Amino acid sequence: MIDKLKELIAEAEAFTAQSKDEVEQFRIKYLGSKGLLKEYFAEFKNVANEQKKEFGQTINQLKKTAEDKVNALKEALENQEEDNGLYGDLSRPGEPIALGARHPISIVKNQIIDIFSRIGFNVSEGPEIEDDWHNFTALNLPEYHPARDMQDTFFVQTNPDILLRTHTSSVQVRYMEENKPPIRTISPGRVYRNEAISARSHCFFHQVEGLYIDKDVSFADLKQTLQYFTTEMFGKSKIRLRPSYFPFTEPSAEVDVYWGLETETDYKMTKGTGWLEIMGCGMVDPNVLDNCGIDSKEYSGFAFGMGIDRIALLLHQISDIRLLSENDVRFLEQFKSAL
Ligand code: PHE
Repeated sequence: MIDKLKELIAEAEAFTAQSKDEVEQFRIKYLGSKGLLKEYFAEFKNVANEQKKEFGQTINQLKKTAEDKVNALKEALENQEEDNGLYGDLSRPGEPIALGARHPISIVKNQIIDIFSRIGFNVSEGPEIEDDWHNFTALNLPEYHPARDMQDTFFVQTNPDILLRTHTSSVQVRYMEENKPPIRTISPGRVYRNEAISARSHCFFHQVEGLYIDKDVSFADLKQTLQYFTTEMFGKSKIRLRPSYFPFTEPSAEVDVYWGLETETDYKMTKGTGWLEIMGCGMVDPNVLDNCGIDSKEYSGFAFGMGIDRIALLLHQISDIRLLSENDVRFLEQFKSAL
């Protein structure tokens, strides 16, 4: 009988369970009110005296083994449940984390900021909802000035003094009001114009405008700065400045960069001329400096402004400006490899 008990001890020790049910059945089999232990304890009185001691020890050992086993298995199963709840199967291989992509507008904007920051320009920002003074009047565009029509404006209905900025020149006005020359700043941001939406134009787009004010700043400084920019940005150093008109600069110019006519795309992009218009620029009108509290007799400066969206379309061969604001992931995912 002692041998039988030893067998049962070995069996109990080897027992494993996958569920609480199996543990419970094991408990009932060994420790239950009609279980094995009960049976063997009942046998105790029939055991020969000289074997009583060993029998007693063995049966106690079986009891302890069974109890320990039940407790250990219960605990293990509970822990496992917790783990599953919190972390799932910890030994599973990890899931790949998909890499995001920057928006093409951000990519181009960051490139422009990077290029100008290397020659000492900082970045300034301002509100998209502007007042008339900062968007127009301070920039030498008084009320009823015909040049206000150059940029179709969204006004805030209840207050004609409040509008969605039509260019980030408004940020330059704010910057001049708050800072003394020398000033070297670029102002990236979103702007709004009441234009029909098509593949080529949208009612909102993005600009980077630049402003440089110091003593004795000349048109030559402007040209040199722009040439540095086009070389760094496009790898093209040949530019031309066509006379133009902006109310806030005098003289004013449009900047064309020579793109070349090597490929069919070059032909398409430049309409067969090889030249590509990329921005407007000029020497800051003395009226603007005075409006912003900078003495125009002491200081002069230049300003320029370009559209980020158009440059993004160009550089990434995107055929429709509307793609930039539709948030279609199939489009956005294509920029994973860009900066
Ligand atoms: N503000 C002009 C525009 O939005 C661009 C510009 C900026 C032109 C500075 C000249 C100088 O069209």
